[in-house]
Amino acid sequence: MAMTTRMPLIAGNWKMNLDHLQAVAFVQKLHWTLKDAGHDHSTVEVAVFPPFTDLRTVQTLLDADKIPFGLGAQDLSTHDSGAYTGEISGAFLSKLDARYVIIGHSERREYHAEGDDVVAAKVQAALRHGLVPVICVGETSDDLEKFGASAVPVAQLRAALEGVAADADIVVAYEPVWAIGSGQAATPDQAQDVCAKLRDVVAEVLDADAAARTRVLYGGSVKAANIAGFMREPDVDGALVGGASLLVDEFSSIIRFQKHVGV
Ligand code: PGA
Repeated sequence: MAMTTRMPLIAGNWKMNLDHLQAVAFVQKLHWTLKDAGHDHSTVEVAVFPPFTDLRTVQTLLDADKIPFGLGAQDLSTHDSGAYTGEISGAFLSKLDARYVIIGHSERREYHAEGDDVVAAKVQAALRHGLVPVICVGETSDDLEKFGASAVPVAQLRAALEGVAADADIVVAYEPVWAIGSGQAATPDQAQDVCAKLRDVVAEVLDADAAARTRVLYGGSVKAANIAGFMREPDVDGALVGGASLLVDEFSSIIRFQKHVGV
């Protein structure tokens, strides 16, 4: 088994699910479940990405109950302030102690026509406000047929990293679009292959140190039954979990993947 010094990150992307009251109940239950199971937070980082309207409530709960989960948002504006109705500034997210922000998720790329230029501008916006961008890249099934698995995600990542400083703190998430919400995950081999190529992009555009320290996650139909296979791969440093992050037992079991793999 490849050992890595990178702290594994298990991130729950709730998408448009759970209002702020449901979010409180969920976070408390997840915390208790992990506590009961004796989960050691110093070995695996947990982060949750609730809808914007939940963020303040979840922040207050994490703080009051000293729950060691990272907090993240699902998107942010390219702008910092001004006449942009409905947009959320990175400045507001950092004021809420959000550590992360998802950028370029395939649902934003598809339903909101976010291209590589918007994604790159959002990465810059996140970094301006001290947020860690979780940069999502991935190929559709059409791309897969035409170009293979890695060409599109590699090009997307290159574009997203334009102008990023070598010492920037970023996370990369490889999420094949065909695997998201489909129940059909990539195989660990496929994930490893693309994640390694994405790490090479970080080395090439930033530098070797950045590549060694940046966490590259796999996402797409991750569940308790398949997480161990991904986490055994040397270039997969965690998972971005959608559907399974809404189920307390399933998500806590994913977080506790070390129990299944004996890492
Ligand atoms: P899924 O979603 O785990 O439900 O496939 C992953 C994601 O969209 O981040």
